[in-house]
Amino acid sequence: MDKFIINGGKKLNGSICVPKAKNSYLAILAGCVLSSGIVTLHKCPNFVDVNKMLEILEILGCRIERQDDNVIIDCRFIHNYKVPNELAKQIRSSIFLLGPILARLRKAVVCYPGGCDIGARPIDLHLKGLKSLNVEIIEKFGIIQCDAKEIKGNDIHLDYPSVGATENIMMASVLAKGTTRIFNCAKEPEIVDLQNFINKMGGKIYGAGSDIITIEGVEKLSSVEYTPMPDRIIAGTYLLGVATCGGDVLVKNVEFEHIFSLITKLRDSGFEVIKKDDSIRLISNKRPKSFGKIETMPYPGFPTDMQPQALVLQTVSEGVCVVVENLFETRLKHVPELVKMGANITLKDRMAIVSGVEKLYGAEVCCTDLRAGSALTIAGMVAQGQTILTNVHNIDRGYDHLENAFNLLGADIKRV
Ligand code: UD1
Repeated sequence: MDKFIINGGKKLNGSICVPKAKNSYLAILAGCVLSSGIVTLHKCPNFVDVNKMLEILEILGCRIERQDDNVIIDCRFIHNYKVPNELAKQIRSSIFLLGPILARLRKAVVCYPGGCDIGARPIDLHLKGLKSLNVEIIEKFGIIQCDAKEIKGNDIHLDYPSVGATENIMMASVLAKGTTRIFNCAKEPEIVDLQNFINKMGGKIYGAGSDIITIEGVEKLSSVEYTPMPDRIIAGTYLLGVATCGGDVLVKNVEFEHIFSLITKLRDSGFEVIKKDDSIRLISNKRPKSFGKIETMPYPGFPTDMQPQALVLQTVSEGVCVVVENLFETRLKHVPELVKMGANITLKDRMAIVSGVEKLYGAEVCCTDLRAGSALTIAGMVAQGQTILTNVHNIDRGYDHLENAFNLLGADIKRV
């Protein structure tokens, strides 16, 4: 398994472009199953999770061709309603396929999904939503078997604004009879992107980005060309990398609004953050002040996917920061690794109290999950001496060679 050898202490300078969003791509690829035509998606990122989703689509009957960085998905011959267990167990988003496969083939079989080990990650809201649409569900030995002779639109209230459940129910309703309304739905930008993609194929979805989404069932979806949105979590990772290590970097291809919660925290703690068109310049030339508090919340709150990287910045900032992880039970596994590097953190359940220190020191640490991995990369880049980061395959799930991106800005990271 690959490792990163990181020689810390380098400042970051220059400019860098953000790729398209993993979480948008994953939902949109699942949404391809709804199309009876050919889908062309632009600028497909080379992330392991995206490649795995493409493998699943091929098994379902799609024909996939890559032309430069575009991916062309011929969805006309989809016939298989079973998602293979080995692949489903590797990516969380395999569960999003239930809705679109059901909509298209009226049957779907998938096992309980895998993904990052950051907590229990139940799927009860997905299944309850599908049942409300007249889908019969049998669960046996970890396999979820769904049948729907006719999917019927309905009003559905989510107990929690789950991103995946919102996307799954949206997709299940697109070809349904009648109208579906999802109340207390998630408002993440990736959901707006999925709505725009489906509507460009002929769907009738309204309200994504607000608390209520309305889906009017249509007969059929056609061919489409689409460019998904940029990855707001990668944009945040780059900005937090520069904020932590010091330097002056222009991050290009960013939707400013998508990361406004982070920008506000960065500005409040003394960083110069300048917006220009679709780029953000961050200048970090003195020891930052602590954020004071980071509490993860559904969008537009502070994203859980940026919590580990933001926590690393707090380890070397002046003052104390309380970090509360509200979404996932065990998403603070990077904390004991950071303590090995000299960070001063007290951990209690889902809360970490971070007292900033002058310096972190290189150590051997392990990527426990995807975003913990990018966070520990940043920790290695600011630390004095050498850091060996193991299990970096976790990082590759959502970054295309993160080491190359940071090296381009002046870091010293080798993959071995
Ligand atoms: C998506 C993102 C992930 C991000 C998360 C929260 C993708 C591929 N992944 O994950 O990167 O961290 O949103 O922004 O888009 N929950 C239930 N029952 C359910 C579903 C969820 O209780 O049926 C709970 C979860 O345990 C968690 C919370 O809802 O506490 C949020 O999870 P959810 O929004 O569903 O996250 P994902 O869609 O899995």
